[in-house]
Amino acid sequence: MSEKSWEQLEEWCLNCYRCGLSQGRHNVVIDRGSRQSEIMFIGEGPGEQEDLQGRPFVGPAGQLFDKLLVAAGFAPDEVYVANIVKCRPPNNRDPREEEQQACINYLRYQTALIKPKIIICLGRIAAKAIIDRDFKITKDRGRWIQRKGVWMMATFHPSAVLRDELKKRPVWEDFKSIRMKFDEIC
Ligand code: URA
Repeated sequence: MSEKSWEQLEEWCLNCYRCGLSQGRHNVVIDRGSRQSEIMFIGEGPGEQEDLQGRPFVGPAGQLFDKLLVAAGFAPDEVYVANIVKCRPPNNRDPREEEQQACINYLRYQTALIKPKIIICLGRIAAKAIIDRDFKITKDRGRWIQRKGVWMMATFHPSAVLRDELKKRPVWEDFKSIRMKFDEIC
């Protein structure tokens, strides 16, 4: 394939009708943050606000995510943020397997452009798609693995933390660990 470019990615995504999620979208939600970043966060898919504004993690979960970033010493626009699927699943249901499959190559392309040293999966859906089909978020979160030279870890999704106070502490432990890994290798 010829050289990869952001323009190419955007053109593909904006004209994508590979799955039914395209029918209900207001916006294709591609990314936010720095395209020069060495750390990439991957969520599940756009919610209502993200669909309306065209940027990932700008709703309530995004506000918590930004707080965690800042508390861990990252400026929110210094990291790169994307999702497994780029169009909003209706009523915020989980993206279906076939919808994830239809969209995953765009994320692969983004990852090839970013060349991150660290990938953080936010929640079960991203962890299963990226790290391991059998990933168990409660048991396996916070554990680092290295694959093809990239360090990866999953933590709870910020929406899950908003629903369950008890997840606050572990998610904060994970963000401290992310900071340490970043300082060590980036
Ligand atoms: N939840 C996600 O997984 N991604 C977003 O962009 C917003 C909420």
